[in-house]
Amino acid sequence: MGKGRYAKIIGTGSFLPERVVTNKDLEARIATTDEWIYSRTGIRERRIVAADEKTSDLAERASCAAIEMAGIDPQLIDLIVVATTTPDQVFPSVACLLQDRLGIHGGGPAFDVQAVCAGFVYAMDIANRYVQTGGCQYALVVGAETFSRIIDWTDRETCVLFGDGAGAVLLHAAEAPGVISTHLHADGRYHELLSVPSGVSVNYEQVLRGEAYAQMQGSEVFKFAVKCMGDVVDETLTVNGIVKSSIDWLVPHQANIRIIAAMARKLDMTMDKVVVTVDRHGNTSAASIPLALDEAVRDGRIRTGQTLIMEGFGGGFTWGSVLVKM
Ligand code: UT7
Repeated sequence: MGKGRYAKIIGTGSFLPERVVTNKDLEARIATTDEWIYSRTGIRERRIVAADEKTSDLAERASCAAIEMAGIDPQLIDLIVVATTTPDQVFPSVACLLQDRLGIHGGGPAFDVQAVCAGFVYAMDIANRYVQTGGCQYALVVGAETFSRIIDWTDRETCVLFGDGAGAVLLHAAEAPGVISTHLHADGRYHELLSVPSGVSVNYEQVLRGEAYAQMQGSEVFKFAVKCMGDVVDETLTVNGIVKSSIDWLVPHQANIRIIAAMARKLDMTMDKVVVTVDRHGNTSAASIPLALDEAVRDGRIRTGQTLIMEGFGGGFTWGSVLVKM
């Protein structure tokens, strides 16, 4: 690591599709209730893309907002990392499509990262390493998803949980933190508990039928999520030699309010120190952390100089955390 070289967040942005689908709307379509969904997950509503809206569209809107907040010329961006499980097409990456939309031509590397709901912390880890080693000056890190496209809208066990959206942060090389540490993990033994079991090499006929859908063994995933994210919180504190009370904000992946509350308890935090969007966004996979971050930065809750921990958990399993000084 280049001593004294940190990745500082200089801008955040987010974008949500216009269409709101409430629990009441779902009640009319499948055997569920607002009461079940809200009490088990904390979700009231989610945003869903229009038929012609793509992941790259959401990524572009979120990125433009982050660039505007940072007040920089997009041409300065010399790294783009997009975390997504729902890219527009098999290739090229959303990151390359985004680079073109932003008018950055012949720029630095641009690529996607696939770590499902942990995608944003994975992308932050990678971008942070580029910045720290002098590999780039300005990194655009995006989480963008159109998860609604890989959902079976007749499956009540999954369709009530997810939503679409995008969030972005702009990182700039600075002499003071910035990103303090990142902690990533994966355990592929559990790949069947949360997956879309179809793609280019497996069950391709499901793709052709437009039935490449997410499947989840919810209660199993729940237990791992609580355990793994709890462990990575401990790891983050221990590695940095800091106490729980030095964390100002928890910005967690937004899968389930009960998981988020367990993480808050782990950090001895009251819920007013936790950024919660799951009630309005549902689970937007890789987009959920930067969406939450942007909301709390823009409404003035998260302020310069404060320390926050972001943490995510997703299919794979993949999980991780990012400790940041704003
Ligand atoms: O982002 C990646 C990580 N993802 C997560 O972290 C998600 C983790 N899992 C969860 O959040 C929860 O496990 C769920 C919200 C998915 C489910 O909550 P649960 O408390 O674990 O419920 P369950 O799966 O044990 O299901 C309880 C009951 C079942 O009925 P029986 O078998 O007890 O009769 C389900 O069939 O609830 C039923 N159920 C529903 N009922 C009404 C499942 N989905 C629904 C629904 N509406 N939408």
